[in-house]
Amino acid sequence: MKAFNPKDFKLIVTSGPTREWIDPVRFISNPSSGKTGFLLAQEGVGIYRETVYIAGYTEKEFKSVKNAKNISVDNTESMAEAVFQELDHHSILIMAAAPADYTPKITSDIKIKKQEKEVVITLIPTIDILKTIGNQKLPHYNKLILVGFAAETNQIKEHAIEKLNKKNAHFICANQVYKSQAGFGHVDNAVVIFDKWNQEKTIGPIPKEILCKKIIEYLNQRIAEVFDRI
Ligand code: CTP
Repeated sequence: MKAFNPKDFKLIVTSGPTREWIDPVRFISNPSSGKTGFLLAQEGVGIYRETVYIAGYTEKEFKSVKNAKNISVDNTESMAEAVFQELDHHSILIMAAAPADYTPKITSDIKIKKQEKEVVITLIPTIDILKTIGNQKLPHYNKLILVGFAAETNQIKEHAIEKLNKKNAHFICANQVYKSQAGFGHVDNAVVIFDKWNQEKTIGPIPKEILCKKIIEYLNQRIAEVFDRI
């Protein structure tokens, strides 16, 4: 059995929020900045065979990663398509993105005019990218390593383990989110990485740049340890 060599692997990192359009001028999204995905992808350049950065609507500075293959996507469906397209026989997928979980059942082609009365928008679930891939048994993905993120406000461990199992991922990096004074989501610079083999590791709190470097280092170390079981 060949030992784990990061140079055999393509790293695919998703980042930032997606947008689900209600009409041409309105959408459902979330305030994820894309910083974590950006830093993880940046860290991966040079370590893996190739790094692919699939970004939703991140903040401007996190839109593309130097020396990576950069792909911009719009909604959760298009993020899913880009990920499926990029997966190959030896891939590590890090789903650091915050894809919108719901999309309007009907998207209007024209701007919906303001009305005096209540408006009801029916939302339907979007595709869960990680879960879909985790629960597909695709033999041609020779070695596929799935890493998810779980931003939680409470009961972090319980929710993270639940996600690990439900999505059939190998790793879940869990972090605590707070509602900051600005009203936007603020994510702590620490993660607890839970894995399929019942190990957990806390990294941080440390500046996000160092945190992401340590996440990649830890993942590589842990993948090497469990490689024959993947
Ligand atoms: N994820 C995904 N596809 C989605 C939504 C989320 O692949 N449509 C991924 C995220 O990128 C992350 C992991 O699933 O790696 C967990 O996302 P999170 O939003 O924390 O969990 P959800 O499954 O959406 O559950 P909930 O919002 O109820 O916590």
